[in-house]
Amino acid sequence: MPVLRTQVAIVGAGPAGLMLGHLLHLRGIDSVILENRSREYVIERVRAGVLEQGTVDLMTSSGVGDRLQREGMRHDGIYIAFDGARHHIDMAALTGGRAITVYGQNEVVKDLIAARIESGRPLHFEVEQVRPQGFDGTSPLVGFVENGERREIACDFIAGCDGFHGVCRESVPADRLNVYEREYPFGWLGILAHARPSSAELVYSNHRRGFALFSMRSPQVTRLYLQCAPDESLDAWPDERIWTELRLRLEMADGWRPNEGEIFQKGITGMRSFVVEPMRFGRLFLAGDAAHIVPPTGAKGLNLAMADVSRLAAALTRYYESGSEIGLDSYSEASLRRTWRAQRFSWWMTTMLHRPPDESAFDHKRQLAELDYLVNSRAAMTSLAENYVGTAFED
Ligand code: FAD
Ligand code: DHB
Repeated sequence: MPVLRTQVAIVGAGPAGLMLGHLLHLRGIDSVILENRSREYVIERVRAGVLEQGTVDLMTSSGVGDRLQREGMRHDGIYIAFDGARHHIDMAALTGGRAITVYGQNEVVKDLIAARIESGRPLHFEVEQVRPQGFDGTSPLVGFVENGERREIACDFIAGCDGFHGVCRESVPADRLNVYEREYPFGWLGILAHARPSSAELVYSNHRRGFALFSMRSPQVTRLYLQCAPDESLDAWPDERIWTELRLRLEMADGWRPNEGEIFQKGITGMRSFVVEPMRFGRLFLAGDAAHIVPPTGAKGLNLAMADVSRLAAALTRYYESGSEIGLDSYSEASLRRTWRAQRFSWWMTTMLHRPPDESAFDHKRQLAELDYLVNSRAAMTSLAENYVGTAFED
């Protein structure tokens, strides 16, 4: 059987796997990336769009930020809407100048794939039957099938960057995993439309018919989401129904509402909070969605994945440069600390803004009091702002 040899075998070519491979390459560390989907599928998968300052800084400092700097849209604030009015939260003013940047996750992935190809280091798409093995010893292996042929990679470390449904977490015996999980009784229906954004900043709206979110991708493309049932079928949502619902949930008393246009992409996402502890099993390290999922309301999923691999790349670099395992030993604990902070924030944003199907009159009044406090208290707005823009990545 053909055996490849590398230092770090990376499973998954999402944002986590691609950024890890890129950071290792910059430090002269060899890796092989294995992805079970096609290149087109990975690039076209529409997901997140909000980058924390730390993610922008990482892209820029690692030399993959040129297009992001040109095309990304810096947002200094967001709006929180309820009772027919938008309330501005000036995040930059509240956080000493930190901001978020709107730039699609698929653009991030496109930029990272281009950098990988330029580096000449291996990236295998459409591989099958990926099997991480031997990570409790000193010589891990990753088996896979490519073009019908069985192959193996011998490596020093395996990075499980293969998302929530990946194989790496599954390859760890269940009795070594501590799982913390919560499902929410709703999902998000998301669309992309050819329509000029009607606001320069995002609008998160709590409406009696359910949550809605106004966002964007470019000066010509609006991104919109609405709360729906978790098991909703897209067939139940023809375009006209989507626009009617969005108008109801997003039109403000002052007449503001999103511009409308041709819908060219639609999808439904379930909402869950999930953490597995620890994030390291011998020579297998989990990063990104393979280890944790947040409900999207806090816009943290992609950013947490980037924070994980920034730390993991620094730990591996230290190991290869000096033999020190300090960074590898602290990876799980340090990443989980950031993860739980993001879990708390994402849970809080989600419960404040969504309307659960079994909501009581008390719950609703309490929710309105929370929103009222938020938009009238500088302390509460600061807390939202510093969590939303995110703290610097510490590696
Ligand atoms: P992923 O992006 O999931 O990448 C993992 C990669 O591993 C994938 O390319 C996958 O094909 C590959 N893979 C899986 N199994 C295998 C295998 N066995 N062998 C080889 N490769 C494998 N976050 C937000 O902040 N806002 C949003 O609006 C938002 N929307 C989302 C919508 C959906 C449908 C999903 C699933 C997630 C969404 N997220 C959102 C979360 C955000 O997109 C993720 O947190 C982010 O993609 C995490 O990056 P990752 O690289 O860890 O995982
Ligand atoms: C977008 C996604 C989010 O999860 C969010 O909280 C804000 C914006 C987006 O896709 O634009």
